[in-house]
Amino acid sequence: QSNERESMYLVSEYANTFFQDCLLNTEKGKAIGLTYFKERGFTIETIKKFGLGYSPDEWDAFTNEAIKNGYQLSYLEKTGLTIVKTDKKFDRFKGRVMFPIQSMSGRVLGFGGRILTNDKKAAKYLNSPESDIYHKSKVLYGIYHAKQAIAKEDNCYLVEGYTDVIQFHQTGVSNVVSSSGTALTSDQVRLINRLTKNITVLFDGDAAGIRASIRGIDLILEQGMNVKVCGFPEGEDPDSFAKQNTEEELKNYLNEKSQDFISFKASLLHRESENDPIKRAELIRDIVTSVSKIPDVIKQEIYVQECARIMGVSEDVLFDTLAQMNQTEEK
Ligand code: CTP
Ligand code: MN
Ligand code: MN
Ligand code: MN
Ligand code: MN
Repeated sequence: QSNERESMYLVSEYANTFFQDCLLNTEKGKAIGLTYFKERGFTIETIKKFGLGYSPDEWDAFTNEAIKNGYQLSYLEKTGLTIVKTDKKFDRFKGRVMFPIQSMSGRVLGFGGRILTNDKKAAKYLNSPESDIYHKSKVLYGIYHAKQAIAKEDNCYLVEGYTDVIQFHQTGVSNVVSSSGTALTSDQVRLINRLTKNITVLFDGDAAGIRASIRGIDLILEQGMNVKVCGFPEGEDPDSFAKQNTEEELKNYLNEKSQDFISFKASLLHRESENDPIKRAELIRDIVTSVSKIPDVIKQEIYVQECARIMGVSEDVLFDTLAQMNQTEEK
């Protein structure tokens, strides 16, 4: 079993070198893949640091080369790099630019592959399937390159996508990881918890981004961690924002716009329900629910006070609500 996993690691490592070589050293790779990354503003240094690659736009170019080099079809299939049908085998990532996903210790576990055309029918990103070495709910894209900076800064920025992570690094902010489009999981939060108690959730300036960050908040609080939230202007994401700004501008923005989760939730009120008592009540209940996830009762008390102040309600009624929630939790 562990030999099997080792073989899967080796074939993933091989694929990673193959895709990088295609990007940097083949005519098509340079014309298509490298041009794409350069248009996104990535330097060669950045491209090499993150091991970005290109998978040729041919049915089985990668698979054939791997087999020629002695890698077994069974491991190519188990890692999802090759899709095997009764009489045919083909490359999963055909014609895509490649983002290797690495473990905390730097091993390649899987890939994300981005389409280059604007074909709305095809998935923008295709990812490795679940396997014995790749569990998407347990990995964080960028953790290998970010771990030292997260510990040093004692804070971790959490973004949605691959390119957000990469563009942040290039701009000068390295304490950043991505849940890669999946809803944040407790396993992912636990990985960060080994390095710091502080997470700042950065979300894309769209409705989906706001929803995703709200879902993540309680998971983070449950592990006794501190959570801040920071959004971006409508239509921007961390990648596009960082691309237009200097290191200093980006860092200033992050410092100024990061809000505590309560202020963040409260500020949503002003957008939609300021004068609606029912929505106001719902929101207060929602904030107290988040507070009830915090294991430390002293922190709970401080947050209740803050919520009372921001929402203009009495602390007493919030403490009562909190006590009721704590009771239902224990049952
Ligand atoms: N994602 C995915 N499959 C999709 C769309 C998105 O796996 N069809 C994941 C990717 O990891 C992506 C992340 O969700 O990076 C965030 O999605 P989105 O914000 O739509 O993509 P961006 O990262 O902004 O991608 P790009 O800038 O390349 O368009
Ligand atoms: Mn595993
Ligand atoms: Mn998004
Ligand atoms: Mn995005
Ligand atoms: Mn983007």
